[in-house]
Amino acid sequence: MLVFETVPALKAQISSWRQAGRSIALVPTMGFFHQGHATLMRKAAGLADKVVVSIFVNPTQFGPQEDLGAYPRDPERDRAIARANRVDAVFMPGAELMYPPGFDTWVESPSLSRRLCGLVRPAHFRGVCTVVLKLFNLVQPDVAVFGEKDWQQLAVIRRMAGDLDVNVRIEGAPLVREADGLALSSRNSYLTPEERAQAPELYMGLKKACRLYREGERETAALGKAVRDYWAVNFPLGKVDYLHILDGPSLEEVRIADSRSRAVTAVYLGKARLIDNVLLSEND
Ligand code: PAJ
Repeated sequence: MLVFETVPALKAQISSWRQAGRSIALVPTMGFFHQGHATLMRKAAGLADKVVVSIFVNPTQFGPQEDLGAYPRDPERDRAIARANRVDAVFMPGAELMYPPGFDTWVESPSLSRRLCGLVRPAHFRGVCTVVLKLFNLVQPDVAVFGEKDWQQLAVIRRMAGDLDVNVRIEGAPLVREADGLALSSRNSYLTPEERAQAPELYMGLKKACRLYREGERETAALGKAVRDYWAVNFPLGKVDYLHILDGPSLEEVRIADSRSRAVTAVYLGKARLIDNVLLSEND
């Protein structure tokens, strides 16, 4: 597996793959890999001849009071996991390479970005869109793979790519969970043992809405209330930032749920802010 820390070396390799007629898949990440990331790598390997994984803890998507300094990192372990998942090249740029002095251009899709996570993280998706477009321009992939764990991020990136005629196919990959239901996240490492023990209740609450949906409840207000009531009893350590039942692809709020509806949520648990989502019509 190749490891690139500079742009000229990366670009030379990309051109040589291109000249040999190879297709390229990109998996953008911030590292500290878990099985969710590994699943994206394996999906990417099925979609193109060569897989490039970027590892870059992108400073512009963190707010001033957020966890940029504390964000977990383990580059050696990450490289081993990438290698084990048939990744061809890892691109690990430094911050000064991605944002040299004088950097002054931003990409934003405001109507999708300023809701849900964007309400408490106002510049977050601007940082995500900007770095993702830069990575697309550097790697020039045919396809890029993103996890459905970050449902709003996937919607924003699809919109950005569509609006700006970006020549990269955007593929989603299913959310990967621990055996007890907690969505895998690099930030789960912030949880204390007590918080970790309660964390699966986040998903159990969302499943409550799925169960009611299957039993015929369609009023999103009632579905949302059932989830909050469940959390009030079973998830006292969790502080709900938001819980919405909305149309999955458009992120529009709806009064009556249907087969496209998703419950999406963000909850503070100790030092961590956990996000999760489920398709209401999903089977157990
Ligand atoms: P990061 O949080 O490292 O996630 C990288 C990719 O892994 C994202 O597409 C994310 O949705 C996916 N992912 C994370 N946890 C997952 C899980 N449990 N199941 C499935 N997929 C999962 O998301 C980012 O980095 C950054 O915002 C980035 C897109 C790299 C831009 O900086």
